[in-house]
Amino acid sequence: MSPTVVILACLGFFLDHRVRAHVGGQDKPFCSAWPSPVVPQGGHVTLWCHYHPGFNIFTLYKEDGVPVPELYKRIFWNSFLISPVTAAHAGTYRCRVFHPHSPTEWSAPSNPLVIMVTGVHRKPSLLALPGPLVKSGETVILQCSSDIVFGHFFLHSEVTFEEPLHLVAELHGRGSQVNYSINSTTSDLEETFRCYGSLTHSPYVFSAPSDPLNIVITGLYEKPSLSAQPGPTVQAGENLTLSCSSQTSFDMYHLSREGEARELSLSAVPSVNGTFQANFPLGPATHGGTYRCFGSFRTAPYKWSDPSDPLPVSVTGNPSRSWPSPTEPSSKTSNSRHLHVLIGTSVVMILFTIFFFLLHRGCSNKKNAAVMDQEPAGDRTVNREDPDEQDPQEVTYAQLNHCVLTQGKITRPSQRPKTRPTDTSVYTELPNAEPRSKVVFYP
Ligand SMILES: *[C@@H]1O[C@H](CO)[C@@H](O)[C@H](O)[C@H]1NC(C)=O
Ligand SMILES: *[C@@H]1O[C@H](CO)[C@@H](O)[C@H](O)[C@H]1NC(C)=O
Ligand SMILES: *[C@@H]1O[C@H](CO)[C@@H](O)[C@H](O)[C@H]1NC(C)=O
Ligand SMILES: *[C@@H]1O[C@H](CO)[C@@H](O)[C@H](O)[C@H]1NC(C)=O
Repeated sequence: MSPTVVILACLGFFLDHRVRAHVGGQDKPFCSAWPSPVVPQGGHVTLWCHYHPGFNIFTLYKEDGVPVPELYKRIFWNSFLISPVTAAHAGTYRCRVFHPHSPTEWSAPSNPLVIMVTGVHRKPSLLALPGPLVKSGETVILQCSSDIVFGHFFLHSEVTFEEPLHLVAELHGRGSQVNYSINSTTSDLEETFRCYGSLTHSPYVFSAPSDPLNIVITGLYEKPSLSAQPGPTVQAGENLTLSCSSQTSFDMYHLSREGEARELSLSAVPSVNGTFQANFPLGPATHGGTYRCFGSFRTAPYKWSDPSDPLPVSVTGNPSRSWPSPTEPSSKTSNSRHLHVLIGTSVVMILFTIFFFLLHRGCSNKKNAAVMDQEPAGDRTVNREDPDEQDPQEVTYAQLNHCVLTQGKITRPSQRPKTRPTDTSVYTELPNAEPRSKVVFYP
């Protein structure tokens, strides 16, 4: 007997009584890892060997994978901290506690404890087929794939599986893949999944985790209703708001657009008529789509109602044909359009100058005074703010059967887009007309 074993034997005599008192017939220790047996490379994990209440003396050994010399012929007290964790630490561990009454002086081996080290290979991708919104009672396929030829995939979730679920990878193209189907009736699915891949010869040396995949179960409550403001048909650039509402006191609403992976979520607000509503401001409309909304409660964020009836939204008017807004740089086509407008305007202005000159000569004997309008912008006959009248080629004509003409300049308010072809307008004032009218050329 070595001195260590003699000391342990004395200690064991005392412990043995406690074992009999507290654990009864249990003769196998329990091995566990804290905080988790799934450890990132470079992180830390503490291995515990539980047998008696209080402290325990134990040995640890690794059954597979790379041998860990720091465990060899060592005795641990209560727990063993591994830090930093490397790929070599991945594998199956068991412990034995000191047990002086057994023939070998050690207890039977504990349960196997698998330590999985993550982040060693590139992450795989995880998909839900046909999609992450699963109707209650239907089956969903979780598909994990990688361009690395993995021998194993492990599916992990916080709730559904206590430890990562081992799946045998299949060759797929030049990489590997696995399909795992889950019936939403028989499993609690509404939660976050990740998958890992590992090579055939080192199953517990994992890749980095896939991006998280949230599975949502739908069809658990009555459908809400969805409406559009100002309506299901909007002009391009007009602000679009979708409202989801229900008599059910949902806490959240989720708006999905056909063909888009992500939903928008908003808190529901009670309104005066007893409904619960959320307004999704979608901003200026650019292209149409089919929308649906769902309701859910705060206590179960991944359990949703039936979808609302689909709402098709269409956008009329081609944004590229409308006048570019000040924030939008003008496109190539509208630049050439500006050039045409500019040339056209100049020709019209020259023709009118000649016309006015001839008219003025014909009327030179009359004694009417020319009047300069001090505030020409004040009563213009063309409303520049009306978007319907923004066609640059539009010209307002007045009949020129009077001989008094005034030429002047209108300086436009500064908020006008700088892309206007010209800031100069020619107008004529016709003082005898009722009401007073002007000819205004807006190029
Ligand atoms: C998984 O399922 C998809 C769709 O059903 C199929 O295309 C793919 O080949 C399957 N992969 C494997 C490895 O079975
Ligand atoms: C899912 O499980 C339920 C209950 O076991 C069963 O009735 C249903 O047919 C299953 N669905 C599918 C698609 O297998
Ligand atoms: C659209 O909404 C934004 C933000 O509320 C507002 O600033 C903008 O003026 C609106 N545009 C139109 C065309 O109503
Ligand atoms: C309830 O009020 C909201 C606005 O507060 C309105 O949008 C909705 O249409 C109303 N619903 C019913 C059923 O009257």
